[in-house]
Amino acid sequence: MVTEMHKLLGAVTVVSTILIGLSVKDGGAEGETPAQFLERYERETLPMKNMVAEAAWQQKTNITDENTAAFVKANLELAKFSQKMENQALVFLKDKSLQLTFDQRRQLNKIADIDTNAQTDKTKLERLQTVITEMEQIYSEAEVCMNPSGDCLKLEPGLTELMRSSRDCQKLSDAWRGWRDQSGKKMKDLYQEYVQLSNEAVQILGHKDLGDYWKSRYDTSTFEEDVAVLFDQLLPLYQHLHSYVRRKLKAQYGPEIFPSTGHIPAHLLGNMWSQQWNNIADLVNPFKNKQLMDVTEEMKRQGYTIKKMFETAEDFFYSLGFDNMTQIFWEKSMLERPEGREVVCHASAWDMDKQDDFRIKMCTTINHEDLMTVHHEMGHIQYYMLYENQPLVYRHGANPGFHEAVGDTIALSVQTPGHLKTIGLLKAGNEQDKEADINFLMLMALDKIAFLPFGYLIDQWRWSVFRGDTPPEQYNNEWWKLRCRLQGISPAVKRGADDFDPAAKYHIVADVPYIRYFVSFVLQFQFYKAACVAAGYTGPLYKCDFYNNKAAGEKFKSMLQLGSSLPWPEAMERMTGQRHMDAGPLVEYFEPLLDFLRKENGEDYGWEEKCPENPPPCQSGTGRLATPIWGVALLAVIGVTFGRLRLPVLV
Ligand SMILES: *[C@@H]1O[C@H](CO)[C@@H](O)[C@H](O)[C@H]1NC(C)=O
Ligand SMILES: *[C@@H]1O[C@H](CO)[C@@H](O)[C@H](O)[C@H]1NC(C)=O
Ligand SMILES: [Zn+2]
Repeated sequence: MVTEMHKLLGAVTVVSTILIGLSVKDGGAEGETPAQFLERYERETLPMKNMVAEAAWQQKTNITDENTAAFVKANLELAKFSQKMENQALVFLKDKSLQLTFDQRRQLNKIADIDTNAQTDKTKLERLQTVITEMEQIYSEAEVCMNPSGDCLKLEPGLTELMRSSRDCQKLSDAWRGWRDQSGKKMKDLYQEYVQLSNEAVQILGHKDLGDYWKSRYDTSTFEEDVAVLFDQLLPLYQHLHSYVRRKLKAQYGPEIFPSTGHIPAHLLGNMWSQQWNNIADLVNPFKNKQLMDVTEEMKRQGYTIKKMFETAEDFFYSLGFDNMTQIFWEKSMLERPEGREVVCHASAWDMDKQDDFRIKMCTTINHEDLMTVHHEMGHIQYYMLYENQPLVYRHGANPGFHEAVGDTIALSVQTPGHLKTIGLLKAGNEQDKEADINFLMLMALDKIAFLPFGYLIDQWRWSVFRGDTPPEQYNNEWWKLRCRLQGISPAVKRGADDFDPAAKYHIVADVPYIRYFVSFVLQFQFYKAACVAAGYTGPLYKCDFYNNKAAGEKFKSMLQLGSSLPWPEAMERMTGQRHMDAGPLVEYFEPLLDFLRKENGEDYGWEEKCPENPPPCQSGTGRLATPIWGVALLAVIGVTFGRLRLPVLV
């Protein structure tokens, strides 16, 4: 049927006929209609994807050479299969004589969009898979041996816990540097290879480079400008949070270790990447006489188990009318770090493309932060379950930011003091007055506002790398330029020519785009507000808890069950009535805090664009040079003036 129509079409026919020839040879069934093809796609793809998911799961929960080889092999098989399907889809898409429905065209376009699997050179494709797996392996196995005790720590839980809880500048700095020495630094060559191979692969699909391809997932031609506008809108909130925190940290650690440029040293923020600062809430809490909203201690006191953390999340979703986790979920998930084998600990949620088979892989620690991460990951699972009845190509988020926003939206409600009291994690009886509210908003800001420039800059860096604007010899320099300029933080210790700090972050190593998290941090407040409105809530946004509210649940579900079957603005409209990303609800949420911070900060906020030349070292003990910077400057001056004087003489 398809071939016959071509005879009427002149020039276009030639192209299509060649493609048809190709597809038939490659296993496309002759005479298939688009509808029949889509049906066959569904049937054949599901077991293929399940096979790959299973191989990936095996490899990431048990890193051995054997499992890695099997994983790479499975990926190659999937690539070959995807190319075959892509070819067939293109035949239909290019056939102007076909009357494709909107939905058929959308499905075919998605089938033709096969990422780096477009690489037809098997050697290059295999090499790309291997490079990514190797980087991930280096990352997962890295250990830092701390002096003087000699304990060797992995990222999870050891180093993460140290960064979270230690208030010892030197220890934090050692862990910070050690992690980068053991992870990123070992991957610069691999990363260069990765950039080249993946660019080449997506260029086959007609994209300029990998960054260009990633952006295409957002359907909007103005995506890059859109996020830049959002970022500018949110910057004042971040600037004011930054300087308030800086003042508190100076009080804790002494002003000597802060560079004069206004940057905050990266190791003091409670997190290995300074990406979220909620772990230093105890240092930053504005009103010490009022309750700290971090519930870690209370969870420990009550003997919370990991299972209980997951049930807490499950219960919230359930109260909205979502389904509970499946039996297979509880049987097959990996919820803590196992003994006796290497695993990729970075938390993730899995759709195994098989009935009821959804899993979470997470090395859970019992604390406030991980309780929220559990909600985050379970949000992914809920999304998977809700769009399970869509055609396979639509079993994705409306855009990647949507997927990241689901669980976080729920967690916004969970974390309200009101809800924490309901579930017994905040002591009842504590009065929720203005000061307690500011404490609460501060804790939330340390998570949600602190993250914004970080979420924004990771892919600013990568887009530039993929475009070729940042050559390998500038990788680390450019990284720190962005970190200093946008985030206002400076390296814990001076960085050298062979450091490669971007690859000390999981998503960079594991080929996972990051701007989705920035997008998600905006979207989740839009979704949260929409759920609150649906629940009939009218108070200040930050106090809204929509637990147990089926109307809010229905709204949320009506959006999620669409998967990616419609362009994301349509999906968004179902829940929020809006068709654009909007920073408004986020700003509204934090309004009382911004007022507070403006008053506290006065004129004392902001930082210089450029990184400090020499990050001041930690001070140990007393009685040493009061200010090392001054000491170094003094040495330099003396060194110039009296060239013969040697450093040891002065110290
Ligand atoms: C890990 O993988 C190896 C194969 O490389 C297998 O022999 C072993 O049983 C696996 N361990 C677990 C706990 O699954
Ligand atoms: C769903 O999960 C929650 C929390 O784990 C539990 O309390 C509830 O009984 C479960 N409901 C059903 C129908 O299994
Ligand atoms: Zn996620």
